[in-house]
Amino acid sequence: MSFAVAADAYDRFMGRYSVPLAPTFADFAGAARGQRVIDVGCGPGALTTHLVELLGPPAVTAVDPSESFVDAARERHPGVTVEQAAAEHLPFPDGAFDAALAQLVVHFMTDPVAGLRELARVTRQDGVVAACVWDHVAGGQGPLRVYWDAVHDLDPDAPGESNLAGAREGHLAELFESAGLRDIEESSLTVHVEHASFEEWWEPYTLGVGPAGDYVAALDPEGRDELRERCREKLPPAPFTVSVRAWCARART
Ligand SMILES: C[S@@+](CC[C@H](N)C(=O)[O-])C[C@H]1O[C@@H](n2cnc3c(N)ncnc32)[C@H](O)[C@@H]1O
Repeated sequence: MSFAVAADAYDRFMGRYSVPLAPTFADFAGAARGQRVIDVGCGPGALTTHLVELLGPPAVTAVDPSESFVDAARERHPGVTVEQAAAEHLPFPDGAFDAALAQLVVHFMTDPVAGLRELARVTRQDGVVAACVWDHVAGGQGPLRVYWDAVHDLDPDAPGESNLAGAREGHLAELFESAGLRDIEESSLTVHVEHASFEEWWEPYTLGVGPAGDYVAALDPEGRDELRERCREKLPPAPFTVSVRAWCARART
């Protein structure tokens, strides 16, 4: 699967955007000292790192289905409980946490509503469930927009990520409602990331991470060169800053 990759590859491909997203998302979710929080779909630990700083290791639990990410999260966060599990089947009792957070995960869940119901189940009554997903719609402000625009110039039938759950405005709130959550609020979060050179921006796409990395990996060398050059044409001269947006929702159980 797209996330059976080394943690370092993930850090270079997506961590560069998800690490700065984590504090703004935790803030939106109202994470605060004294709470027990679960980070669902933790990856190698972008949000986990911030939660540990905020709450201390014993207050943080993290899960991810990817074995390599679970190994990395365990190594990086001694004292944090890290389990290999999917959102749809969380190995914890009802009401075990004050809050359940899923950063950039709902769009990869096999069954997003079932996953959100599980987040709600393991959260105490009146606790918080919060999630965010990049604004992946065509013309949106997700971090992969230039890349998918270039792909679709060359291959209009390529799948992309714009149809994934939660990737368009309002859809996370719809999913939260279907999962039986209440007092739902939706907003957006923006982070700014500087890229020193085009190569630094492009190279992580070749590491096979996520659907974008899977697509590059399936191209022949000519196709890869053509895509790289199409991306280069679409980006400003380096160094450049990209401002990327995620849709987010929070609710009470
Ligand atoms: C884009 S990464 C986000 C990782 C991390 N939360 C971050 O912000 O960097 C998506 C993560 O979702 C995980 N994932 C995929 N399907 C999942 C599911 N059904 N339940 C929970 N996590 C899932 C992947 O293994 C991957 O670590």
